[in-house]
Amino acid sequence: MSVDQIQHIGVVGAGTMGHGIAQVCAVQGYRVTLVDVVPGVLERALRDITASVEKLHSKGRLTDAQRQAAQDNISTATDIAALRTADLVVEAVSEDVALKRDIFARLDELTPLHAILATNTSSISITAIAAATQRPDRVIGMHFMNPVPLMQLVEIIRGLTTSQETLDTVMELARRLGKTPVEAADYPGFIANRILMPMINEAIYALMEGVGTAEAIDTVMKLGANHPMGPLTLADFIGLDVVLSILEVLYQGFGDPKYRPCPLLRKMVAAGHLGRKSGRGFYEYAVK
Ligand code: CAA
Repeated sequence: MSVDQIQHIGVVGAGTMGHGIAQVCAVQGYRVTLVDVVPGVLERALRDITASVEKLHSKGRLTDAQRQAAQDNISTATDIAALRTADLVVEAVSEDVALKRDIFARLDELTPLHAILATNTSSISITAIAAATQRPDRVIGMHFMNPVPLMQLVEIIRGLTTSQETLDTVMELARRLGKTPVEAADYPGFIANRILMPMINEAIYALMEGVGTAEAIDTVMKLGANHPMGPLTLADFIGLDVVLSILEVLYQGFGDPKYRPCPLLRKMVAAGHLGRKSGRGFYEYAVK
């Protein structure tokens, strides 16, 4: 399918990543259906999209027409059957391979034959997800970065059987969304998290061993390496449960001890200190 045929985009999962993806698609004129089954999540997603669009509009980063498009182009649904006419679906549910495979099997049954099924997974194998469908050539990874409306990159991951046509279409779609696509092969963590997560893990080891305080570690990386956020602040921003689950994928996928999740990270996740979303991680936050 050519990118010009894409009119209706489905997004499954309306959390931070899903609603960010819905927002950037709607702003560029695509009709979007955002699906979530958890009560209250869709309402919150629409509120967050409005707040983000208003902020970007007030800074002159969105035109009046784009602000209006965000209002007009997004509909919500609690039943995945609403994606019956979608030309492309981006799945952005939690990082659970069984859940993703179930969703892909269902999407495979109900979406048109030409539809491309993409996953925003940050580390799970695209090939394994594709194998749950009868169309593995039209399954691909579209890994957006958080916060989606601000981050330039989309990592595009080609599974073992993803076709060249699917890859070309999705690369072009990412450009039309105002992003820069970069192709990565389907190995654990792809490129972004293969490099980012070991750095964050190392920062947590440094904290655990008392090499420096959280503030010292973050300040060194901010002022010494020009990172916009220190690694521990970034871990809190991503969510410590998400960081742990990606490290587990790297550790199991490569079987290499260099990816071993830091025991302090495991302990914090066990305690429910998940970062910004729970109000406490390496730092404390006011919960929204
Ligand atoms: N929509 C619109 N505006 C937003 C926004 C959103 N979703 N999120 C933040 N902003 C706004 C803020 O409100 C703020 O506005 P004001 O200037 O009017 O106050 C502005 O953006 C700048 O934000 P901050 O002042 O908080 O600070 P900042 O300059 O540090 O920018 C940032 C924020 C872009 C998030 C920057 O800190 C940054 O780039 N951090 C690193 C992010 C990163 O590494 N992301 C990747 C995470 S890993 C991932 O996503 C992949 C994975 O699989 C885990």
